[in-house]
Amino acid sequence: MQSAPPKATLRIQIRISLSSLAMFLLKAWRSTAFGVYGYLNFTKSGFLEHSKNFNPEDMARRIDGKNCVVTGANSGIGYATAHGLASRGATVYMVCRNKERGEDAVSKIQSSTSNRNVHLEVCDLSSVHDIKSFTSRFKEKDIPVHVLVNNAGLLENTRVITSEGNELNFAVNVLGTYCMTELMLPLLEKSQPDARVITVASGGMYTAPLTTDLQFNSGEFSGLEQYARNKRVQVALTEKWAEKYGDKGIGFYAMHPGWAETPGVAKSLAGFSKSLEGKLRTSEEGADTVIWLALQPKEKLVSGGFYFDRAEASKHLPFAATKSSHDAIDSIVDTLNSFL
Ligand SMILES: NC(=O)c1ccc[n+]([C@@H]2O[C@H](COP(=O)([O-])OP(=O)(O)OC[C@H]3O[C@@H](n4cnc5c(N)ncnc54)[C@H](OP(=O)(O)O)[C@@H]3O)[C@@H](O)[C@H]2O)c1
Repeated sequence: MQSAPPKATLRIQIRISLSSLAMFLLKAWRSTAFGVYGYLNFTKSGFLEHSKNFNPEDMARRIDGKNCVVTGANSGIGYATAHGLASRGATVYMVCRNKERGEDAVSKIQSSTSNRNVHLEVCDLSSVHDIKSFTSRFKEKDIPVHVLVNNAGLLENTRVITSEGNELNFAVNVLGTYCMTELMLPLLEKSQPDARVITVASGGMYTAPLTTDLQFNSGEFSGLEQYARNKRVQVALTEKWAEKYGDKGIGFYAMHPGWAETPGVAKSLAGFSKSLEGKLRTSEEGADTVIWLALQPKEKLVSGGFYFDRAEASKHLPFAATKSSHDAIDSIVDTLNSFL
């Protein structure tokens, strides 16, 4: 009698610790929830839906004579913001890193708004040295700054190190925003109680908790994740500033513009931009809440808040376990202060 051939057995052992499985599932949940929530709310159709609740009178206010500083003002949401503020009579200082692109943007805004009080300031926000020299130059004007819009930002997909030794996304999105705000405080104080700092963050932060690994030194670098982490820092910093400088008459607001079709998105998120062709917001729609925050009476606004489509929005997605991470902000502020 012939015996049956031995059965080939294929045994694959997957060793995965419970904590990495939990982290994997948590990250998957954050991304899925963000994607679904974003698709329903951050696109153009979300803007059109939310705009049914907008009060047109909110945007009819003028701010003649108020001094507004807008970073990254030559393109996309920053350009639309500078244009919107200039068309309502503000004196606008457009902070751009490139002189030619800046001059071109200034002259377009001057001619389309007939407001001559639109000026170019050249500064590379990825350099603390440049920010220090810009702010000390600017302080010589000795003018009150009513509105500072921290808009300059980028999503660099590869790991790029600046000449000052910092990871580029962090350098512009976090360190640039931090230094600019801290160094402009004396001029903001001059316009109290009306002063406000508006930081253009992103809904991308919903996918990331606050982390002290500011330069993404641990793990494999991901530009998208670093961008989300940077935007989370901006939102937590806004809370911290509101708490720290509440008695100085300065309001601090972070906001999400939604998903807008801008040169930055086309360059850094080409696939995303193509897959949502025709569904993205315009730069003007992206800038709408920035301008709204600049125009509203401060009593109507919550300092330290995160805004989206002219309303305060949650800083956390449900079950995303990002809330407690904000406790790390003091240690992050200490690190950022070491650059000043
Ligand atoms: N568009 C969206 O869907 C979206 C969504 C969420 C959040 N945001 C945020 O919105 C803000 C504006 O982005 P955008 O979409 O309008 O992109 P954008 O068209 O690329 O505009 C970004 C602006 O920032 C400037 N900038 C970049 N690096 C700089 C540096 N080192 N120094 C000074 N300026 C610098 C750019 O100048 P150059 O022209 O010289 O590069 C440009 O003026 C960013 O903070 C972004 O994170 C955008």
